Amino acid sequence: MGNPVGPGMWKAALAETPREAFNWRLAFSVLCFGLMGAARGLDEGLIGTTVTQKSFINEYNLKLTKSQNATQLAQRTGNITAMVQIGSVGGALIAFIACDKLGRLWATRQLCTIWIVGVIIYITSNGSYGQVLAGRFIMGLGIGQTTVVAPTYLAEASPRSIRGLCICIFSGSVYLGIMLGYFANWGTSLHISNSTSKQWVDATILHIIFAGLIIIGSFFALESPRWLAKVGRDEQAAANMSKLRKLPLDHPYVQAELIDIHDQLEREREATLGSGFLGPLKELFMLPGNRYRILLGLGCQLLGQWSGAQSITIYAPQFFQTLGVTGSSEKLFATAIFGVVKFVSAIICAFFLVDFIGRKRSLATGIIIQFVAMFYVAIYLTVVPSATTGKLKSASQKHAGTGAIAMIYFSGVGWALGWNSIQYLIGAEIFPLRVRSLGVSMIMCFHFVNQYGNTKAVPQMLVVGAPGLSPNGTFWFFTAVTLLGLGFVWFFLPETVGKSLEGMDELFNLPWHMIGRKGAALTAGKGSVAEAMMLGDTEKVAEISREEQVENVDGKRTGGR
Ligand SMILES: *[C@@H]1O[C@H](CO)[C@@H](O)[C@H](O)[C@H]1NC(C)=O
Ligand SMILES: *[C@@H]1O[C@H](CO)[C@@H](O)[C@H](O)[C@H]1NC(C)=O
Repeated sequence: MGNPVGPGMWKAALAETPREAFNWRLAFSVLCFGLMGAARGLDEGLIGTTVTQKSFINEYNLKLTKSQNATQLAQRTGNITAMVQIGSVGGALIAFIACDKLGRLWATRQLCTIWIVGVIIYITSNGSYGQVLAGRFIMGLGIGQTTVVAPTYLAEASPRSIRGLCICIFSGSVYLGIMLGYFANWGTSLHISNSTSKQWVDATILHIIFAGLIIIGSFFALESPRWLAKVGRDEQAAANMSKLRKLPLDHPYVQAELIDIHDQLEREREATLGSGFLGPLKELFMLPGNRYRILLGLGCQLLGQWSGAQSITIYAPQFFQTLGVTGSSEKLFATAIFGVVKFVSAIICAFFLVDFIGRKRSLATGIIIQFVAMFYVAIYLTVVPSATTGKLKSASQKHAGTGAIAMIYFSGVGWALGWNSIQYLIGAEIFPLRVRSLGVSMIMCFHFVNQYGNTKAVPQMLVVGAPGLSPNGTFWFFTAVTLLGLGFVWFFLPETVGKSLEGMDELFNLPWHMIGRKGAALTAGKGSVAEAMMLGDTEKVAEISREEQVENVDGKRTGGR
């Protein structure tokens, strides 16, 4: 019998976590940071409909005129929509500075303030196109940061047995935001006259409410003990850890975690490649263990973003039309249900899969579902090319078309279960403390760049004829990418369920071809006191704490006692 991996590891971690560690203080902090996911969701949910509202169209001249043809109009609308995404690239890129210099809590307050300022500039534009673009860009600078600050904090603050659940609260909130956005627009369209700008402005105020709630909440949340340790505030780190776990400071569970944190910091300081700005950047890309992690994170983004699900979200109404759903209210309804389906899938992933069966299997399940869906649609569009023009002849073609629409929902389920949940999770939990927020920043910046590229490229890909792939070709492309993703995950992604954040170092220092397939089994219980304790390896615990004492006598360390 080898070491436990996946479900076995999770059970061991859960059994070892003292019940006090699941407490209200933790739940509140997790909720406060998790809700930040709603930031990008809200904008995705709101902007699509906002640009179709009469008041907005009139105010910003989004219609065909003598001096504005269809292409120019599409560009104008596209520029307004895309500004948040473009801002988010910048936001994600700079987020690590605030995250590391100000701490996770002040970084949150800072980004919420930028987000609110952006919204205010946006909703007070009063017809000025430039101001709308500027406002939305600034919103993006705030919103982009949420994808770095929140997952980083959630990974650091949660007990390892429920770490997946805590981080997935963030990805679930994205869908919560999308749904609230839809409903807000729908509600204001019922109750506020179509001709006043109050209509879209009132719905957009939801942003300010969310940002405000998060700022207020942040004053009751606890700072990440890992960040406090990183900046050398050891006593506060210990005090906050004990509060977050609701356990006395000298409890073995708390002590083990603190020892591991200081051990890791020590290891990282020894391997440092210089201080200042370039040092950590070099550490991230030059140290083999770290290089594997950053490449893993970037690879996940690339394969996830081009698996087609993200484009289906954005172009859902068009896709439904492509597959034969006509009528605008039918389309909107189908899109709204699509949002609900994904929200439920994300919640299922968070509560029942990601910790329980493990990251690797959850993700593989999601990708397989996506693959089946894409494969079906690709075959359907190849066999029945007339589907895209809405002219279906036989009854069997119509049945197959209904199947294709079911498959679009199915692909949403796969995306929310797999890539969408894991893309935030993996980045946040694999990096060592000193380069964690920097690593997450890089990955999320890449995420937004790919997403932007996606939204630009997919409409071109759908085009029938020379430069495009035509609809069936596009779906064949997505089918191939999902298959590639499955292979990538099988070979490169290690199972991290139940591992302590500090135990990851041992895992990623293995030879590269072993990390993904055998890493978890080979390193379970090694490399961190917390894991050794969990698996009852008393020898290892004794050995590690002996080292600890010796070094304490030397006065080099402050971590353990
Ligand atoms: C929109 O942005 C593009 C660049 O992506 C630019 O060429 C174009 O002039 C912009 N259109 C308007 C109306 O601002
Ligand atoms: C937790 O950390 C904060 C700094 O963010 C510090 O002000 C506070 O005193 C710490 N809490 C405890 C109980 O020490």
